[in-house]
Amino acid sequence: MKKILFVCLGNICRSPMAEFIFRDMVEKRGLGGVIACASAATSTEEIGNPVYPPAKRKLYQLGINCSGKRARQMNRADYDAYDLLLGMESRNVARMKQICGGDPENKIRRLLDHAPQPRDIDDPWYTGDFDTACRDITEGCQILLDEINLSHAKD
Ligand code: 4NP
Repeated sequence: MKKILFVCLGNICRSPMAEFIFRDMVEKRGLGGVIACASAATSTEEIGNPVYPPAKRKLYQLGINCSGKRARQMNRADYDAYDLLLGMESRNVARMKQICGGDPENKIRRLLDHAPQPRDIDDPWYTGDFDTACRDITEGCQILLDEINLSHAKD
């Protein structure tokens, strides 16, 4: 089982979108038994809160229901529990490494670090642009799934 944790600042916009979009892709490819994912925040701001309505609407448009999701903060134990911890932007990655006390196993990076144009996913909480965030997240999830699929095929 490959375990992925998606991480953003609040865990109510970008990382839950990544969690639910990625899980949907995984299930559609019949890989639900071999890949698992979740999402978490670096901050304490939104702990316990549901997905922010505009993000929830984007997921709903894709036929994805995220109604049970509540924000939680990541912690040091997540470093051992997950194979890969993917932040949405450089600032997330810096904070994730701080929370985990470093990254000795090279598990922490940005979701779009392996994209043709490696970049941050801007925070739609501030930009209001949920379409761009959703497009960027979908691109990152597709690349991630292809990578895992390839490495799995080699096993
Ligand atoms: P997210 O967006 O990191 O994509 O979930 C944010 C949501 C809430 C806050 C910041 C970013 N906040 O400060 O409450």
